[in-house]
Amino acid sequence: MQKVLTPVCIFLCLQYSLCYGLHLAAVAPAGEGGGDQFAYSGFAGVKNLALDGTAMVTQDGLLQLTNGKPQDKGHAFHPTPLRFRESSPEGGEKKAVKSFSASFVFGIVPPAPGIGGHGIALVVAPTKDLSSGLASTYMGFLNKSNNGDDNNHIFAVELDTIQSPEFFDIDDNHVGIDINSLVSSNASGAGYHDDKTGGFKNLTLVSGRAMQVWMDYDDDATQIDVTLAPMGIKKPVMPLVSARFNLSSVITDEAYVGFSASIGTLTSQHYVLGWSFAVGTLAPAIDMANLPKLPDRSTKSDQSNTMEIALPIASLVLVIAVAAGVFLLIRRRCHKYVELREDWELEFGAHRLSYKDLHQATEGFKNKNLLGIGGFGRVYKGVLPTSSSEVAVKRVAHESMQGIKEFVAEVASIGRLRHRNLVRLLGYCRLKDELLLVYDYMPNGSLDAHLYGHDDRPTLNWAQRFQIIKGIASGLLYLHEEWEQIVIHRDIKASNVLLDNDMNGRIGDFGLARLCNRDTELQSTIVAGTIGYMAPELALTGKASPITDVFAFGAFLLEVTSGRRPIEQDVEGHQLVLTDWVFKHCSKGRILAVIDPRLNGDFSISEASLVLKLGLLCSHPLSNLRPTMRQAVQYLNGDMPLPEMSPMHFTFSMLALMQNQAGFDSYVMSSSSSTRSLGTISNLSSGR
Ligand SMILES: *[C@@H]1O[C@H](CO)[C@@H](O)[C@H](O)[C@H]1NC(C)=O
Ligand SMILES: *[C@@H]1O[C@H](CO)[C@@H](O)[C@H](O)[C@H]1NC(C)=O
Ligand SMILES: *[C@@H]1O[C@H](CO)[C@@H](O)[C@H](O)[C@H]1NC(C)=O
Ligand SMILES: *[C@@H]1O[C@H](CO)[C@@H](O)[C@H](O)[C@H]1NC(C)=O
Repeated sequence: MQKVLTPVCIFLCLQYSLCYGLHLAAVAPAGEGGGDQFAYSGFAGVKNLALDGTAMVTQDGLLQLTNGKPQDKGHAFHPTPLRFRESSPEGGEKKAVKSFSASFVFGIVPPAPGIGGHGIALVVAPTKDLSSGLASTYMGFLNKSNNGDDNNHIFAVELDTIQSPEFFDIDDNHVGIDINSLVSSNASGAGYHDDKTGGFKNLTLVSGRAMQVWMDYDDDATQIDVTLAPMGIKKPVMPLVSARFNLSSVITDEAYVGFSASIGTLTSQHYVLGWSFAVGTLAPAIDMANLPKLPDRSTKSDQSNTMEIALPIASLVLVIAVAAGVFLLIRRRCHKYVELREDWELEFGAHRLSYKDLHQATEGFKNKNLLGIGGFGRVYKGVLPTSSSEVAVKRVAHESMQGIKEFVAEVASIGRLRHRNLVRLLGYCRLKDELLLVYDYMPNGSLDAHLYGHDDRPTLNWAQRFQIIKGIASGLLYLHEEWEQIVIHRDIKASNVLLDNDMNGRIGDFGLARLCNRDTELQSTIVAGTIGYMAPELALTGKASPITDVFAFGAFLLEVTSGRRPIEQDVEGHQLVLTDWVFKHCSKGRILAVIDPRLNGDFSISEASLVLKLGLLCSHPLSNLRPTMRQAVQYLNGDMPLPEMSPMHFTFSMLALMQNQAGFDSYVMSSSSSTRSLGTISNLSSGR
């Protein structure tokens, strides 16, 4: 703002120096200004801000605008309005809005590096009640009906961390000048022009680091300049973004100034450390030395959450403390492998392991320790240096939010689930863009390696197969009915079944598992699963449920008994659906044709036929005819006889269903030439 000093301005400047001087001398908890200017160097002891939503002043003296609760917003306003224009003489023309200037230090603390959440806006508005503003893209200060409306009389500077195409946002890390609208008048990617080199330096808004913003409006030039720089750097000469606009038509005679911040689905936290504002002059300087510190995103949760869990679980605190110590040590030592910790991680009670230990355990993730490459990443064998126990370490890349969600699902499900037929998650470690999940090592590998094509392995005998089947049934029953929440696995198949020392089957890979509360409606999500194990209604509606797991379990039973994959191609390239194939042979009493020839006929006919019948029943295309896992377990244990199935029960062709899902109902109802009856299936036991 270049302006000839008017007497008013001189007066204000004097007043400002006086205030500032006093402030420094008294080390007042927060600056207040007389009249139309003020400065808060930290917010400790500040009681009179008008706060709403998630906004609060923390014990450390930070103005916290959002607290990580998704879809929420917070507002904080200076309590009294400022006069933005001199009153017009009686009957005379309205005066122009005066020059004004603001400066503030803010910080956006992300839940994980690079993950934003909406943003912060410095707002000048006719009211301090912005409760009708929407969270997320609307930044908490506008809503669908008033966005772009000149009657809003709102001027704002937005620090936006999400690209909202509906507002023509330039990117997901920008500073914009907003006049009555979220469509910025001008915007620029976050950064600053370095005075020394003249070069432009990028900044990341969601860095967890404090930065300063200066906003100046010059009433002569009707120009708005916004400048950004890391905290501690002198205000760069060249502004980051500018706009020409006569704000006289926008800002009301008296207006409130404050902040609005919002988040969408992500859990970032928005803070203001210090803030000053002045009408008619430059904003007072903020006393940088007295500003509170931003919470360190990686250690913050240690402080806040340790308190909450200290009383009930003293031992866990110890684990956390040790982990935190190791973490800090490593962090200092090796910046590349910065480990991260968050509030939500503690809830799951899974143990946190240090990167150093895991690195050591796997000999630096050497290829010779590679156990396999799965859908989510590489799996390594390792021996934990602390306990000498053998573990499997899965490395999952997580640049994407999806990766983190999968991880949370894994930690949430496996970390707290305890059952002899589930692979136990021992702990994990989170790096900048990688997750390391540590499981019990399963010395005998995955079941599919035993079933298919590994000639060096002796084939599983029938007793082992039956034991694995019963184990998986019991593990699934636990997931569906015996744990505190219903867990749908969503990807039951032979390659997700691992074999422990005693050749017991254990369910692994909960990457697709999602928790759903018993009472809430089963969620419809993106169809996940593996072709051949996917229930027709899942393919149709995308709704996973325990009964879609039962379908996959049915396919698994047929797979283990026959030694064939659920879908195979025959020599002519036709798809062969295992269910259909088993059905065809079994209904003709040709059980030998179905059972894995590698068993050399050495199996119990009654058990094998029970498993096959149950497999067909579980994989029934009509979901209401499938048994529950509880019933399946009872059938397998011989506690209950498998129900006799009427011919009407089985009139289906899986292949036709899968190829023509839309014609599902009509197909089942019709009795075309390929319609078959399972009436004879009860004769299987005599059919050898
Ligand atoms: C801005 O608008 C006000 C009110 O319309 C007017 O009085 C003032 O002269 C304008 N400023 C400039 C620099 O044009
Ligand atoms: C949008 O905000 C305006 C101004 O606060 C309010 O009057 C209006 O009711 C809000 N509209 C909706 C749909 O919330
Ligand atoms: C700064 O950010 C811009 C926009 O995101 C990008 O194109 C440019 O390469 C970045 N520059 C540096 C030095 O990282
Ligand atoms: C937007 O801001 C930039 C950077 O200050 C400036 O060079 C440009 O002229 C501005 N654009 C408009 C339309 O004001």
